[in-house]
Amino acid sequence: MSKSDNRIVYFNGEYAAKDSVRLSPDDRGFLFGDGVYEVIRTYGGALFLPDAHLDRLFRSMAELAIAPDWDRPNLADRIDEAVRRAGYPEAKIYVQVTRGVAPREHAFPRVPPTTLITVTEIHPLPAAQREAGVAVVTTPDLRWGRCDIKSLNLLPNVLARQAAAEAGAFEAVFVGDDGTVWEGAGSNVLAVIGGTLVTPPLGPRILAGVSRAHALDIAAREGVAVAERPLSAGELRAADEVLLTGTTIEVVPVVRIDGQAVGDGTPGPVTRRLAAAFRPRREAVG
Ligand code: PDD
Repeated sequence: MSKSDNRIVYFNGEYAAKDSVRLSPDDRGFLFGDGVYEVIRTYGGALFLPDAHLDRLFRSMAELAIAPDWDRPNLADRIDEAVRRAGYPEAKIYVQVTRGVAPREHAFPRVPPTTLITVTEIHPLPAAQREAGVAVVTTPDLRWGRCDIKSLNLLPNVLARQAAAEAGAFEAVFVGDDGTVWEGAGSNVLAVIGGTLVTPPLGPRILAGVSRAHALDIAAREGVAVAERPLSAGELRAADEVLLTGTTIEVVPVVRIDGQAVGDGTPGPVTRRLAAAFRPRREAVG
């Protein structure tokens, strides 16, 4: 990562050089992982699907009774200003809100939240990797029961992604004790089975991915049948196509699961169509 990344950040009411930000050791995000976050992408300087991301951020905060001292238009303005100041047309915006700073007691203090916005230049996945597809490994799902909240508690995700990296894989896919596939450490999982795009249903076991919803919309528009239903690891291994979605990765074909080829071991036609249609059209970027 270059030194100029995150050159300006928004932190609690100020725009400042990232290195000048001072975080309290009593911040509950630091002490307890007591906070939530969002990752939003820009294309050509314009935020992609901002309403869906802000809806999810406000929902995550409400689920944890984190009450910000700003409203949605305020936050949107701050994000816009941070994007403008950073000046990267292709950027990843990270928004983190923690419960705030207070002496370490588990129960909620009544303090203002800590708000951080960073803007980082995005380095998209190399085209060759997108073309060839990636490998994933499956891993037991050790996470808590509210994975629909985009909380800072990502230790199981970190460990799973590390295990994937050590196995030479791109992503780890969480599988429950009963063999149910949930999602990736930082992505949603979809499969093409008999021509239908299948993905686990929304609920407490997965994050409601903005990219997942976007991919399902594209599929519906293009006449691909869609089913949101439980998916087993056996079905995933036997699927014709498997793909991952996420804000920074967009649509990525999966061609190996735990070392075994998916389909014929190359990205399939439905995945290719979704990947091709995923980005906003030029004229929509403005
Ligand atoms: N991760 N599932 C998990 C557990 C995730 O962390 C993410 C995104 C997704 C995909 O959601 P979306 O399409 O809204 O980006 C699914 C972000 C990018 C991250 O933690 O960096």
